[in-house]
Amino acid sequence: MNPLGNVSEMLQRNLSLFDGKRLLVCGLLEDDLPLLLRQHVASLEVFTTDYCYYRQYQERLPGQLQFGHQLSPTTRYDAVLLLLPKAKQEAQFLLAMVAPTLETGADLLVAGDNRGGINGADKLLASYGDKPIKRDSARRASLYHGQLTKPVAPFDLEQWVQRYQCQLAELPLEIHALPGVFSSAELDNGSRLLLEHLPALGGRVLDFGCGAGVLGCAMGKRYPSLSLELVDISALALESSRRTLAANGVTGNVHASDVYSDIVGKFQHIVSNPPFHAGLKTFYAATETFLRNAPDHLLQDGEITIVANAFLRYQPVLEQGFNRIATVADDKRFRVYSCGKKKN
Ligand SMILES: C[S@@+](CC[C@H](N)C(=O)[O-])C[C@H]1O[C@@H](n2cnc3c(N)ncnc32)[C@H](O)[C@@H]1O
Repeated sequence: MNPLGNVSEMLQRNLSLFDGKRLLVCGLLEDDLPLLLRQHVASLEVFTTDYCYYRQYQERLPGQLQFGHQLSPTTRYDAVLLLLPKAKQEAQFLLAMVAPTLETGADLLVAGDNRGGINGADKLLASYGDKPIKRDSARRASLYHGQLTKPVAPFDLEQWVQRYQCQLAELPLEIHALPGVFSSAELDNGSRLLLEHLPALGGRVLDFGCGAGVLGCAMGKRYPSLSLELVDISALALESSRRTLAANGVTGNVHASDVYSDIVGKFQHIVSNPPFHAGLKTFYAATETFLRNAPDHLLQDGEITIVANAFLRYQPVLEQGFNRIATVADDKRFRVYSCGKKKN
């Protein structure tokens, strides 16, 4: 059970809006809200791109929860509730995906935290209908309500893929990324530093938290015989990684995993620019679990190489699991650590 967050608490006062609806819920899902909504609607479908949420709720929402990068509609919905995601472009992407599955006149409900851009809901809904009304505002969250009255174009995923080129040492790479995916517009400086300081690689390699697949793709191009595995919690990241690998002629096994939940067997190398986000406890928790349990997923002579913002204190966690810890690069903003189980 996850206690209701502030946005869901505000929505709890508005449940009658959902009475008898064929409802689709998508966006930033993080609590039991769908279980409450289920008691009011005629039918419920929940679409998430977050594998952590999917794993937690798939048994409690049997047949009602989809995980993926693209919705497979099971009906024509007459209401959508978009829980505003952090990236504005991801909100636009979700609405464009959902709109063709809605009846004309369907309710467009957008809810979010006041600090997360919810007051831009007017603009977000502008191409779908008349100006929405603000239904409620409480607990630092707001709810906007519009109607689908304008014609909508069929959804074309291709149009949402951003592409950019980057040059890493001798390697030209083409990166493909869906909205909201890390580094979707340009290569992150930390990831670049990491790639410039990787050890020689061979055997089975894990790219943990692969995002748009930059690290895995660069490694596979440099060492074509690697057995590459790329994992992420986000379906949008996974689809981006698949596209990045394909665009660069690299092969790898790309699949969802919440930290090590779906990882089998051991690796010669684990390489990562692990998730972090100042203030978001869950990201720190995932990264701590990732680092603490890394030795169990490495071969005896295996190594982990990660990059982290210089202000993040990963050294104590690394010291718990590894005998050999080297700072192989430090440009003041980012640090690259390389760690092994064996003493040198
Ligand atoms: C800092 S980004 C790095 C992306 C990419 N490797 C790069 O260098 O551009 C971290 C990634 O970790 C993913 N992530 C967050 N929590 C995760 C978890 N619990 N399990 C797996 N991946 C996670 C995020 O979705 C994000 O794509």
